[in-house]
Amino acid sequence: MIILGIETSCDECSIALVEDAKYIHSNIIASQIVLHKPYNGVVPEIASRLHVCWIRQVLEAALKKADISLDKIDGIAVTSHPGLLGSLLVGVNFAKGLALGLNKPLVGIDHIRAHLFAPQIEHSMDYPYLGVLLSGGHTFICNVLSYDKIEILGSTVDDAIGEAYDKVAKHYNLGYPGGVIVDSLAQKGDPMSFMFPGSEIKKPLHKYDVSFSGLKTAVINQLQYFSTGKEVTNENICASFQRVAVGMIMKRVRKALKDTGLKRVSAGGGVSANSLIRASLLDLKNDGYDVSLASLKLCTDNAAMVAGLGYMYLKDGITSSLELDATSSFRL
Ligand code: KG4
Ligand code: ZN
Repeated sequence: MIILGIETSCDECSIALVEDAKYIHSNIIASQIVLHKPYNGVVPEIASRLHVCWIRQVLEAALKKADISLDKIDGIAVTSHPGLLGSLLVGVNFAKGLALGLNKPLVGIDHIRAHLFAPQIEHSMDYPYLGVLLSGGHTFICNVLSYDKIEILGSTVDDAIGEAYDKVAKHYNLGYPGGVIVDSLAQKGDPMSFMFPGSEIKKPLHKYDVSFSGLKTAVINQLQYFSTGKEVTNENICASFQRVAVGMIMKRVRKALKDTGLKRVSAGGGVSANSLIRASLLDLKNDGYDVSLASLKLCTDNAAMVAGLGYMYLKDGITSSLELDATSSFRL
């Protein structure tokens, strides 16, 4: 089955053609980053307008790259939640129009589950596994029971990890988008320059909940309190921030693995492209865990993961009607 995937939940306008959730014929990602750069963040109104202008050309590029015509596709999968409402609506309505015009089945896709599914395209992991979702909008540690069924074991109670990266970058004028810049500066710094606190939550809702706002405040407003006397450089600040941010996630991942007895781990979302997160997760192999990470192109927002997950639903006969609506929030 060849599934056409559409992803417009934020600032990437992406369309992919993926066969049987395994073979990626094309995965076109038109990033709006340069157009949001002057504002140091995604402007929702600009994002949705650009999706309207670009989506048709992105579709044509995806079909051309795959050398597949629209009549050859077996179904359409589109991110319908969570995300920026205006952006989601563009993808959802475009998908509905295609489904109606081509008389093909349609399925609405949850962006969180799509990120968690992304490593499956390249690795074929058996369920269940510990799924670590680290993105600009969400932070989840979960027990992934099937492509559709997930149990949240931990979440952020305030900022998402990517948001913390982006805010640190914004405060120190490092550029936009911040995560990847902080990551590259961190690799040149001394991670022990600042002893930032990795906060604990007294009464967490989930056992492995995490909070990034204390760390973010310490990095942005309280540098002097945590200095070990090393030079105050962006490299040293980023390296110290990254050590603590990734350490907070890894501590919970290790504990969750031990407590649940799960033997497999996987990660998805933009921050799973981070060099220290990847190295730390891969290090779990030394303790006998099976670790599968998506390649970098499948970590950040892309339509291949949407088409891949869409195949799973459509293969099982699960479809959405043309009443499918976009919603900004995540639901389990
Ligand atoms: O999954 P994604 O593309 O979009 C959302 O669903 O949010 O994730 C975007 C986030 C941004 O916060 C970006 O700064 C972060 O992923 N990011 C990184 C890296 N690459 C992207 N954060 C840390 N290190 C990276 N290498
Ligand atoms: Zn995402």
